Amino acid sequence: MLEIKKIQPTDTYIVRHPVLRKGKAIETCRFENDELPSTTHFGCFFEGKLVGVVSLFEKSNNLFEEKNQFQLRGMAVLEEYQKKGLGEKLIIFLENYIKNNQENALIWLNARESALKFYEKLNYVVIGNVFDIKDIGKHYMMFKHLDS
Ligand SMILES: CC(C)(COP(=O)(O)OP(=O)(O)OC[C@H]1O[C@@H](n2cnc3c(N)ncnc32)[C@H](O)[C@@H]1OP(=O)(O)O)[C@@H](O)C(=O)NCCC(=O)NCCS
Repeated sequence: MLEIKKIQPTDTYIVRHPVLRKGKAIETCRFENDELPSTTHFGCFFEGKLVGVVSLFEKSNNLFEEKNQFQLRGMAVLEEYQKKGLGEKLIIFLENYIKNNQENALIWLNARESALKFYEKLNYVVIGNVFDIKDIGKHYMMFKHLDS
């Protein structure tokens, strides 16, 4: 059985750590502004086990003109549960959550090069050139308009 629901900031570490911060100190799993009331964390539970996470930050980027902007961060699915459609379900859930609360919102994110195709399948578009994030690697900025 699959369930997607809001989770607490530190709950995300169970998935962030092995997937996004493997071999690094657990403190590296904390993202700036994780605890803000305006930040929302979602977890995907498979048979009761937390196997996927994604977080949504109210953060504007000068590149875009929209009033309602959100940055998507910390998208991760445990390795043994990847490529089963769970990541896609989490993103769709998050998009619907925004659509239910905001009109004409925009989501932007910094995608790892390895995740580019995943986001492209979900209609996210690259803006700008490839850039490097220290210790993590090449990234692309991507965005998507959410029509209400
Ligand atoms: C990227 C990630 C979140 C995708 O989650 P997932 O549950 O594996 O993805 P899904 O199974 O929902 O995939 C949805 C579609 O994207 C495709 N896809 C997923 N990951 C892909 C990848 N790395 N390369 C190419 N295509 C990919 C799938 O094949 C699927 O397409 P299909 O429906 O035609 O088969 C997950 O693989 C992950 O945690 N990766 C490591 C961490 C990471 O890179 N996070 C993103 C940081 S920006």
